[in-house]
This record gives sequence, structure tokens and C-alpha cells, in this order.
Amino acid sequence: MSVSPRKTPEQLRSYRWYGRDELRSFGHRSRAKQAGWGADDYVGKPIIGILNTWSDLNSCHMHLRLTADAVKRGILQAGGHPMEVPVMSVGEMLTKPTAMFHRNFLAMETEEVLRAHPLDGAVLLGGCDKSTPGLLMGAFSANIPVIYMPCGPMMKGNYRGTTLGSGTDVWKYWDEKRAGNLGWEEWCEIEDGIARSPGHCMTMGTASTMTALAEALGLVLPGASSIPAVDSAHTRMAAAAGRQILENVWLDRTPASLVDKRSFENAIITDMALGGSTNAIVHLVAMAGRLGIPLPLEDFDAISRRTPLLANIRPAGKYLMEEFYQAGGLSALLHTLRDLLHTDALTVTGKTLGENIEGCAAFDTDVIRPLDNPLQKEGGTAILRGNLCPDGAVIKHAAATPALCQHTGPALVFDSYPEMKKAIEDPDLDVTADTVLILRNAGPVGAPGMPEWGQLPIPKKLIDQGVRDMVRLSDCRMSGTSYGACALHLAPESAIGGPLALVENGDLIELDVANRRLHLHVSEEELDRRRAAWSPAPIRYHRGYPKLYVEHVTQANEGADFDFLQYGPALPEPEIF
Ligand code: FES
Repeated sequence: MSVSPRKTPEQLRSYRWYGRDELRSFGHRSRAKQAGWGADDYVGKPIIGILNTWSDLNSCHMHLRLTADAVKRGILQAGGHPMEVPVMSVGEMLTKPTAMFHRNFLAMETEEVLRAHPLDGAVLLGGCDKSTPGLLMGAFSANIPVIYMPCGPMMKGNYRGTTLGSGTDVWKYWDEKRAGNLGWEEWCEIEDGIARSPGHCMTMGTASTMTALAEALGLVLPGASSIPAVDSAHTRMAAAAGRQILENVWLDRTPASLVDKRSFENAIITDMALGGSTNAIVHLVAMAGRLGIPLPLEDFDAISRRTPLLANIRPAGKYLMEEFYQAGGLSALLHTLRDLLHTDALTVTGKTLGENIEGCAAFDTDVIRPLDNPLQKEGGTAILRGNLCPDGAVIKHAAATPALCQHTGPALVFDSYPEMKKAIEDPDLDVTADTVLILRNAGPVGAPGMPEWGQLPIPKKLIDQGVRDMVRLSDCRMSGTSYGACALHLAPESAIGGPLALVENGDLIELDVANRRLHLHVSEEELDRRRAAWSPAPIRYHRGYPKLYVEHVTQANEGADFDFLQYGPALPEPEIF
């Protein structure tokens, strides 16, 4: 790694606020005194923000106040001055219409909080799904030194001695309840036992995926993403992050100086080996877009084809994050994958990724499989193309019924989630196990925010017949904890006139995962006729964040970021008058 010259105190960003003999600096210093800081507390020291997504509205992050205390301890030990700053929590459970709708909001807030204040560096505390990409997208754009400190996964769930995985087992047991195989009392016991502690979902959902990918990108201290939230190692790691960020500030290790195309390829390789969430694709594209790094969907598919699925974790596998941690965690997985990775990629430790994982090993090779005994020879996610998705679609085929990965069937189309929800309970619905269920108007603009509706429920009529998986298509996303033959993120989306808008009930649709194909068997002439008759839905949002969102969000293959937040010339530092 090329070493930047060590900064002097006068070169610190915060010096512009506090260090000058000017009227404004007088104001800043007097208010520091108002806060109870004397010169010994902060003069000549890096000021480190702790951007905390703690909130009573987000149970995954309920321990992050204590985590922030540990980070502060580390910052003080290393000679910095900590300042804890709240930012939007974007909890996956309670944020509506979907946390994804507010990911860009968190990214904007993060960027502006970092840029507008006298911060020399920051430790970012997050973990629940969208908080990881939101915080990192903002930090990439602000481009000051940061370390990401994941909140860690929660303990595994328990129901009458059976292990429960968050999300994944909800979908499973909900279908059993709908089929009449599970009563109210049992359902309540599952509710009691499925989320037993602070921390993010402990399956390989979006949270576990994105925190692991942040580590593979080089932005997390080695091993931190796998540590359970309630493990004391989490607290020790938080203090270590607080110590490390000081060195990174003095040596000006900014995101742009650490993260490059190699880092993103490492993240994609890791994603495929983990059987990670399909959401990772849209988030990685958006994150790379903030640094001006092209990440076409073809990169994901090419890497998926050559990367074996090694992590035996639900929903693609058997275990949960606690077992993954005990088996050696992400460091062990990366070590197993080392010959496929760019081990020379840089990281926040000041060492390369290869140096960080030296000597690591998997302690349980059923949880972290060796390369010669993978769970699946290829990665967990495939990119589809075809006349239904000229700009791409994704499918997590590792978590789909294999027989459905090559399937042709008639379309049954729903124009909205409420319409679909009502219809699937209809005992007379015209549907068979061969039908291809379609939900449209659910993309970035249409929903808006691409909610996780893509695992369309199996119609009640078929549930009663024992059907548990069907081919389903949509322009929205699905939870990383979900499973099934669900093609997602179809782009361009139906609300802006993408081909999904032109499908009619009974049209034959072909899904061919092996050949990465998603095809609507309707002639071009007929599609032209339907296109000419199509018109967009009336505009629903005339003010506020929703208006900003639908006017500026990009399509799924572009990361669903705002067009005006993507990479561009660096913004000037704020004037201090
Ligand atoms: Fe927070 Fe799943 S609800 S990670």
C-alpha cells in the first residue's frame, strides 16, 4: 500500500472550524466550551463522528448506544475526540412503504452530516438491511475516512426445540398456517421465539449479506461482520474500530483511496459464495456508482458462474450466522476463497485483504464448505435477460426449486399488491402450479421504492394441494431471507412502460436459468400494438420526499440511486464564514 504522508494537526479538516484566529472560530470554540470541552479534549486531535442508527423504532439496532460507548472508548484511547451523531435508522420492519424507499434518504443524510460538520473521520454504526448501503453510499460521496462497524446478527431463534431463522421460517410457517397445519397457539410461540436478541436477521438475508460485503470491500475490521450482536467480541471490536479510525484519519485513508473495481469484484465473489441476498446486486451497483466504478449486471453473472456457493446458511443452506461465526466467520470464508479474490485490494486496517485473512481457517467444513465440496458449483444468483427484461433481472436460483429453473407457463398478472393479496385467497382463482404469477407496478417508480413483494404468496387453492413453489416475476425485490423461483428487479420496470407492462393473462412465459433467459412468447407485432395502447398511471405524488424520489430514482440495474447523487465532480468543502 502506498503510504500517505501523516497529516499535521493544522491539516485536519476540523482545524478549519476550530483552529483559526477568526470570528467564526471563536464561535465554534465558545460552543465547544458550552458543551463542556476544554482545549485538552479536542484541540489538535482528530474529531471522529460516530454516526449512530440506533432508534427505538429499530429493534435490530437497540444495542448500538452501548456499541457507540465502546467506539468512543477506542477513539479516546487513540487520541481522538468522539462525537456521536444520530442519523435515520431505516429499520426494515417498521419503515413504510419500504426501507428501500429511504435508503437514498439515509445516504443523503450521511453525506451531508459528514460534509457539513467538523468531522475528520467517522465510524458508521448500522446493520439492518438498508442501513449498510445507505451509510456507505453517503460516506463514499463525502469521501472522508470511515470504518463501518456492523451491529452483528441476532441469536438464532427457537420454537419447541427447533431452530428458527428470521424471515425464512416466517414464510415457511405462514404457508403451513394458511394450509391449516399450524394453529394460533403455535403461531404465537413462533412469534415469541423468532427474534430473541438485539442484532440483525441471522439468516443470510440482506443484512448478513451487506455487512459481509462491506467487510469484503475492505471497510470493516476483519471478522467484525460475523460477530453476534450480543457477543462480548462485538464490544471489543467496536473499541478497536474507534482506535483504528484515528490512524486512518492521520494517513488520509479515504474510501476512494481504498475501494476500487477489485474491491467490488471481491464483494461480488463473496456474495456468490455466501448465497447472498438478491438485494446485494442493486446495493453494490448503487455503491459503486457513488465512486464512478462501472458495475454492469454481466459482472455479477460472470462471477456467479465461476464462484462456488460455500456458505451453508439459510435460506440457501442449513445453518445460521451463529454457526457461521463459530465456524470461523467471514475471515474463514474469504481464506477459503483466497485464490479467487484480489488479495491485493486495500482495506481499513492499512493492510491488504490477503494480509488480513492470513492464517484463518474454517473450523467446521459443513458450515463453510471447502472449494472441492461446495453446496453448489455456481454462485447463488443469476442475471437473466430477454424480451421481458432487456435491462436485466435477477434470480436467486440457489434458493429455488430446481425443476422450476426451466419452466414455461401461462401468465397470471396482478397490477397491484392489494389486488394480488385479495386474489390469492380466492378458491376459484384460475391458476395451476404451472402458472407464472406476475406482480407489476412494484418497481422503483411504480411502488415506489421497489418493496420486498417479489416472493408472491402461493395461491391458497394451490397451498391446499401441497404446492410450495411457483415461478413468479416482478419488478420489485424480495427479502434476502426469502426463497422460491422468483425472478426480480425486471428492468425497465412496468410503471415506466417496460415490457412487463405489456403482459396479458395467458401469455406464455419461459424461464430458463441455465441459459439466463426470461422470454415472453408474444410476437413483436403484438407487443408493438400493446405498447401503443399503454399509458402510464397518473402521478400520485406532488410534494415532499416521494416527489423527489419518483422524479429522480434510477432503475434497478443502475442501483435505484438518485440520478443527482451518482458520481460526479467532487463538491467543494463548505465555506466557513
Ligand atoms: Fe433488521 Fe432483518 S429486520 S435485519
